[in-house]
Amino acid sequence: MTVNAPAAPESIDLMSLEAVSDPQGYFAQLRATQPVYWDPQYRSWLITSHRHVAEALRDPRFSCDRIEPYIRKKLSGPDTDPLVRQAFDVLSGWMVFKEEPDHSRLRRLCMQAFTPQSIAKLRARAEILTAELLDAVAPGEFDLIASVAAPLPSIIIAEMMGVPVEDRLRFEQWTAKVSPLVSTGLDDPTRYGSVAEGMDALVTYFRQLFQRYTEQPADNLITALLRAREQNDALSEAELMATCTLMLFGGHETTANFIANGVLALLRHPGQLAAMREDRVDMKLALEEFMRYDGPGKTVVRVASEDFEFEGQQIQKGQRVFLMLSVANRDPLAYEDAELLKLDRPPGRHLGFGFGMHFCLGAPLARLEAGIAIPAIVKRWPGLTLAPGPLQWLPFLGTRGMRELRLRRA
Ligand code: HEM
Repeated sequence: MTVNAPAAPESIDLMSLEAVSDPQGYFAQLRATQPVYWDPQYRSWLITSHRHVAEALRDPRFSCDRIEPYIRKKLSGPDTDPLVRQAFDVLSGWMVFKEEPDHSRLRRLCMQAFTPQSIAKLRARAEILTAELLDAVAPGEFDLIASVAAPLPSIIIAEMMGVPVEDRLRFEQWTAKVSPLVSTGLDDPTRYGSVAEGMDALVTYFRQLFQRYTEQPADNLITALLRAREQNDALSEAELMATCTLMLFGGHETTANFIANGVLALLRHPGQLAAMREDRVDMKLALEEFMRYDGPGKTVVRVASEDFEFEGQQIQKGQRVFLMLSVANRDPLAYEDAELLKLDRPPGRHLGFGFGMHFCLGAPLARLEAGIAIPAIVKRWPGLTLAPGPLQWLPFLGTRGMRELRLRRA
């Protein structure tokens, strides 16, 4: 749903209220006229069309490695707090920031643990948990994110990893402290203290879990990661740490927003909502359409690894590039009726989970959770409506999500 008039290129402000609340509408004109655009204010390239974003995601000159250069530039001095340095060191091990051949090696080892079978096993648990969370919603007005959309993926990933139930609360508190680093980007040193503390607690805790599951293997993701082998190669402790934290953050808020954005889209499209309630929807297609229409993956960042020409523009080594997935996913050159939610849209290549070698490893888990939660929510309360008042979209570049989604159940 386009709320704002599209912004003309000269007045673009990435973090303006209009851009945050309706990125797809706001950047529509830019996508049509200058799909590869240098933003002087943010000193970054904005790539907005489907074709160009997909090309850039496959082009190794748009490098993922943006943490190591940042550490070298900003955090190598003697004054750097060792805990801040540790937090960034963990981040620098995430496969999503790795180039070849390190990336493929890490991804192959992780895929041994994160298999379709291990995800499919979670279905029954996710169904029970969703029903319990819905049962606990009090009558009247409620926040869907706090009560259902956020707890579901957070409990599932903790259980999947093997975090004992008695540690869950502390674990969630540490995760919440580190979260701003992941969702808001790197350039906010005022947040470093709390982030570094949270990461230190997580690192200490994960170390204990590694020890525990080395001594007493169990049916969980950490045990599987500890066992993953390729010839004589295995994940080092630093790689295990990086992978566990990536899974934790990769799978938490994104999936919560997937569920909430999906329910919002349905409430704004009564015909599609009725079809979902009456089981006239192929969930496989519907989930991809929710991702395309308003998925939580808004932008991914790359850094030019060399000087090169791209679509007639001169991109220079070291320049930052924002690949705007959610804007590309509404490109009328890629989709018919791109502005409409059509749950039976034939499968097409949306970019909400990325594309190419870094394609989201957790997509099957996100689909499983949202595929259970979204229909369960809208079927549970036939009189479900949006509560009055403006929606508060999070002012994050990477994530498309709301602070809360207030609904009324009849
Ligand atoms: C709807 C929910 C999700 C969305 C929208 C999402 C989005 C993305 C995107 C766009 C990428 C590519 C990043 C890039 O190219 O820079 C990615 C990568 C990744 N995601 Fe997700 N993700 C979701 C859920 C999950 C879940 C549930 C997990 C795991 C529990 C997960 C784990 C990962 C991992 C490990 C990568 C890195 C893959 C690689 O670098 O090879 N994600 N995700």
